[in-house]
Amino acid sequence: MLGLIAAYHAAAASDDPAQALAAAEAQYVAADIDYLREDLPALFAESRDGLDRVQRIVRDLKDFSRVGEQEWQFADLHRGLDSTINILRYEIKHKAEVIREYGELPEVWCVPSMINQVFLNLLANAAQAIEHQGTITVVTAVEGDKVLIRITDTGSGIPPDILNRIFAPFFTTKGAGKGTGLGLSLAQDIIRQHHGRLFATSVPGQGSTFTIELPLSELQPSAPQPESAPDTLKPADNGNNT
Ligand SMILES: Nc1ncnc2c1ncn2[C@@H]1O[C@H](COP(=O)(O)OP(=O)(O)OP(=O)(O)O)[C@@H](O)[C@H]1O
Ligand SMILES: [Mg+2]
Repeated sequence: MLGLIAAYHAAAASDDPAQALAAAEAQYVAADIDYLREDLPALFAESRDGLDRVQRIVRDLKDFSRVGEQEWQFADLHRGLDSTINILRYEIKHKAEVIREYGELPEVWCVPSMINQVFLNLLANAAQAIEHQGTITVVTAVEGDKVLIRITDTGSGIPPDILNRIFAPFFTTKGAGKGTGLGLSLAQDIIRQHHGRLFATSVPGQGSTFTIELPLSELQPSAPQPESAPDTLKPADNGNNT
């Protein structure tokens, strides 16, 4: 194509138009203009799709890492779950259907980027536990003064004799180079820092459920409270808010 443009310019400046035209024609044939004419729209559409995909991945990554949100704050956990599921979509999509059964949740006092890390570790484990095709169900609910997030997979399940070891640092059943065995240990540390609990139940051969419990009463006195809205969530520092 560029050769054709060069040949056109050469022809325009040439004093032997016949020869220049022949050169341009050769370039025209080489550039396969008809083919390009047919294919260019498709090529541009594909490039646009590619750019859209890159843009989406960058947006998901930014949302997941919650750039600038490494601080304690009230956060929408569903937003964190959704962006984490998006981040893992290529790991999950060939193996599992993700079913979201979200309840009504208030915003939860947490460090969103850390909570998203927990979601990532649990969802990655769930996907890895499914060998062929299965489902990952994400349930959220408020129970009493707690928020529950439950991630259930239809994967391999966990034998009873190792169920109480899976949270230990470096415990892994994944081959060398595949797992560090730190995913659950880190997840549990983070949930403890949030004064919550993380635990697992499993039926070998049928699947596993990991439950995160986060206290709603952990609302911190230092949280910024909107002055004009006294009826919104308040810190539970006075014991009245249970
Ligand atoms: N959803 C699950 N289903 C079945 N087994 C699980 C599940 N989640 C964790 N496990 C078991 O617990 C072990 C420890 O999990 P953990 O996430 O801490 O480490 P890992 O997944 O092996 O490695 P890494 O997280 O560093 O990639 C796993 O190797 C696996 O045996
Ligand atoms: Mg893991």
